[in-house]
Amino acid sequence: MPDGLSLMLMPSRTKTTLATLQACKRDRRKFAVLTCYDFTVARLMSEAGVDVILVGDTYGEVCLGHTSTLPVKLDHLLVVTEAVRRGAPSAFVIGDMPYLTYQVSETEAIRNAGRFMAEAGCDAVKIEVDRRLVRTVEALSTASIPVIAHLGLKPQSIHAHGGYRAQGKDAVSALRLVEDAALMEQAGAVALLLEAVPNEVAQTIAERTTLPVIGCVAGPHCDGTVVVLHDMLGFGGGHPPRSVKRYANLHDVLVGAFSEYVEDIAQQAFPTVENGLTMSPQELEMLRDLLASRGVRAPQGDTQTPARAARETLA
Ligand code: KIV
Repeated sequence: MPDGLSLMLMPSRTKTTLATLQACKRDRRKFAVLTCYDFTVARLMSEAGVDVILVGDTYGEVCLGHTSTLPVKLDHLLVVTEAVRRGAPSAFVIGDMPYLTYQVSETEAIRNAGRFMAEAGCDAVKIEVDRRLVRTVEALSTASIPVIAHLGLKPQSIHAHGGYRAQGKDAVSALRLVEDAALMEQAGAVALLLEAVPNEVAQTIAERTTLPVIGCVAGPHCDGTVVVLHDMLGFGGGHPPRSVKRYANLHDVLVGAFSEYVEDIAQQAFPTVENGLTMSPQELEMLRDLLASRGVRAPQGDTQTPARAARETLA
């Protein structure tokens, strides 16, 4: 095991809380975080023991087909988050606040974050920050809303960043990130998320803070790691980091299944009589009589596919 640390998985059925994540930090146990966007997959993640689920605004890219996260709507993401919560009642579910739902004013930030907590049943919300949003983090914390401060590459700021670019690669910007992380802790953030920052910067931040630190392309030194679901399953779409580890190639599995289905339909290999429903002999007999009294030829019976029988009957 790396660095002699215990990578013991937490039991999947006990509720993961902030206290659990703090204990992971204290005891140097790693925790797994995945993004998720629906009830079914949330249920599977829960079964697999995923500790923390982020209902990321990457939803806009990987599920809705937008080229960035900017168009994601609050009401829409709340519905998705609620569904994930239902699928994974024991996971620590993080709601991701969409673009312009927390930047305009602290009052709006509290009102919108409160909806993730009250309506969607989240355990915490995440916002993309730097030192200019310290007061927002303070306001959320004062309103008893656990807030996770997302630093580094902030996808809602791609136009300001000039694209999806790693952050903190030079000494001056790295120092700024280290300072921003400390400011977020002072402001009352309950955890940090570092995206696309060098391993050394992530390690410096993780070692200096008492907060659990979640890394996203931030190397092995963070307390937890988050991966976008579609990237780890090999679906394609969105902005997969070059270095992402793929755990499945669902692109090929699904395209294979869909192609087989199309072929089955063309070859009339599906649906067969066995894939349809049949009438009782008595009802069928009655139907024949009724049809005959109207001059309609009766179906031949179930030696043919129901679809073909229906076509012939109507012919
Ligand atoms: O929205 C999201 O999925 C995220 C992760 C990339 C960290 O913020």
